[in-house]
Amino acid sequence: MRIMEEGMSQRLDGRVAVVTGGATGIGQACARAFAAAGASVMVGDIDDEGGARTVAEIVATGGTARFMPADMGQAADCAALVGAAEDAFGGIDILHANAGMELCRSIWDTTEEEWDHVMAVNLGGTFHCARAAMRSMRARGRPGVILITASPHAFMTSREIAAYAASKGGQVALMRAIALEGAPYGIRANALLPGAIDTPMLHREAAFAHDPAVMLRRFAEAHPMNRLGRAADIAQVAVFLASDDAGFVTGTCVAVDGGLMATLSAGPAVSYAGPVES
Ligand SMILES: NC(=O)c1ccc[n+]([C@@H]2O[C@H](COP(=O)([O-])OP(=O)(O)OC[C@H]3O[C@@H](n4cnc5c(N)ncnc54)[C@H](O)[C@@H]3O)[C@@H](O)[C@H]2O)c1
Repeated sequence: MRIMEEGMSQRLDGRVAVVTGGATGIGQACARAFAAAGASVMVGDIDDEGGARTVAEIVATGGTARFMPADMGQAADCAALVGAAEDAFGGIDILHANAGMELCRSIWDTTEEEWDHVMAVNLGGTFHCARAAMRSMRARGRPGVILITASPHAFMTSREIAAYAASKGGQVALMRAIALEGAPYGIRANALLPGAIDTPMLHREAAFAHDPAVMLRRFAEAHPMNRLGRAADIAQVAVFLASDDAGFVTGTCVAVDGGLMATLSAGPAVSYAGPVES
């Protein structure tokens, strides 16, 4: 049993992973999990302090990681981040395009600048990092993995989050294109669809509500599992998708959402047999 667990925990031994948005939240958990599974990890983020903290934690637990300041809204930073992983660790095997920003704004109120910024960071950053990683993987002649943190908003959405939802839909479409064009080179691409995950982003979103605590509770109750997700819930699945265990998984979305996307908009787990509340 112990041997099996050790085998599971070293699923990414010898691999090099780049994680964008690794200073906090989902990216931080994924960077830690990739390192714990044996990968050398390059963390990119605009948050220098947080990025350095993630790396220090990984190194303190015996892992290998570096941090590079990088703004995913800048194509040159995306290419430089992949280049830094090549320089530091000899190549890149896994790109986790995870960095993202929310914008809780209606279509009516979204400015041109806001739209451009969300698209540049969420969708543009994903494209520029993926292209740089794919070029590197193809040049090395080694298989690779592109993992994208998208969102259920790619498929179903709410009011007042239009630009974010559009950027997430674009990420899923891009993921499919990467899967098709990457397949001849052994490059797999998949998207994660996290439910409401307890991260700084979710708390910022809740802060828009009249009562943030109630909002957080509503987020939790929207999931049939009746809780918020944890960043570690996503990280476990990310390690699987990045590993050879997922060698025939490409071009698809994996929801890690406590059943959120299984529910109708009338509410979670509505029971037709149960009493109807007025
Ligand atoms: N938390 C959720 O409920 C949830 C649900 C679905 C999808 N997601 C997606 O998961 C990803 C991570 O979200 P999170 O909840 O961990 O958010 P977070 O805000 O807690 O962390 C995001 C990280 O990305 C970094 N970042 C932001 N803009 C950047 C930029 N321009 N360049 C580089 N780094 C940048 C931030 O500094 C931060 O470290 C995002 O793509 C988000 O859209 C989150």
